[in-house]
Amino acid sequence: MKRIAVLTSGGDAPGMNAAIRAVVRTGIYRGWEVYGVQLGYQGLIDGKIIPLSARDVGGIIQRGGTILGSARSLEFKTKAGQLKAIRTLNQHGIEALVVIGGNGSQTGSYALHNLGFPVVGVASTIDNDLYGSDITIGVDTALNIALEAIDRLKTTASSHQRAFLVEVMGRDCGYLALMSAIAGGAEAVVIPEVEVDPEEIAQRLIRAYERGKAHALVVVAEGARYNAEGLAEYFKQHHERLGFDLRVTILGHVQRGGNPSAYDRILASRLGAGATEAIERGETGVLVGFIRGEVTTTPLEQVVNTKKPLDLRLFELAKVLD
Ligand code: F6P
Repeated sequence: MKRIAVLTSGGDAPGMNAAIRAVVRTGIYRGWEVYGVQLGYQGLIDGKIIPLSARDVGGIIQRGGTILGSARSLEFKTKAGQLKAIRTLNQHGIEALVVIGGNGSQTGSYALHNLGFPVVGVASTIDNDLYGSDITIGVDTALNIALEAIDRLKTTASSHQRAFLVEVMGRDCGYLALMSAIAGGAEAVVIPEVEVDPEEIAQRLIRAYERGKAHALVVVAEGARYNAEGLAEYFKQHHERLGFDLRVTILGHVQRGGNPSAYDRILASRLGAGATEAIERGETGVLVGFIRGEVTTTPLEQVVNTKKPLDLRLFELAKVLD
């Protein structure tokens, strides 16, 4: 009998529960025992391991967050912490570990793999910055949450003839900002991947008014050099010359909450199932992701050492469509 464990780590993402459920149920289907690790890698160090039955993961597919809890563990970044984690896994007779998470989490998976423990990663982060998956669990839901906010802001912006800045999450990656700008019909978008002059943004907004628009909306990625705070400061300093009022909304963690979309539930179910398939094949040290419509595996070594590129043709498209 094989015994595996699953954990969620780093920032939570809507759909993590669906992935846990898929790992548990497909693991049991294969005749294995499945355990859950609470509170990510820190829980692994602290021995927070519980058995999970098919019923324990009932009624969670539609819930955001993660029933196992998540954490960012400093201790796990040390070799001593990683060895403690492996000791816990060995004490519980666990033969393989599934790690559902993003970049930081998969760096942890890779460390365990290098210490000889069989690990399979599952691509999950709202940032969509993980190499080895075209799209990751949580992105679609986060995007839809951002979009709902943008649509609402546009309504009030039109009533008052005001300009709005909306800052979205994404760490150092502009994917969420760019996609919400395209889908939300924003007048401008600011992302970390493209250097921008705040004056150029101001002029875009002015041109939007001149073209007869009643609103002007800029989507800003939190990781951009000029994020919402930086741009707002610039606009404040030049308020008289520019001649318009600006309001700032920072979406922050709101974007990570809420029920997963149908897309995220299905993606998470497929990737969770892909993880137990990989373990069954004896293929560990890999990330299970989704590339060109297929569930795929990519070596963790490549995942943690490669930056996922952002398709900048979409940035040009956003400019043309504004
Ligand atoms: O990686 C997901 C993410 O939500 C990023 O977009 C954001 O920068 C970060 O996590 C926030 O981290 P925390 O939840 O630890 O504040």
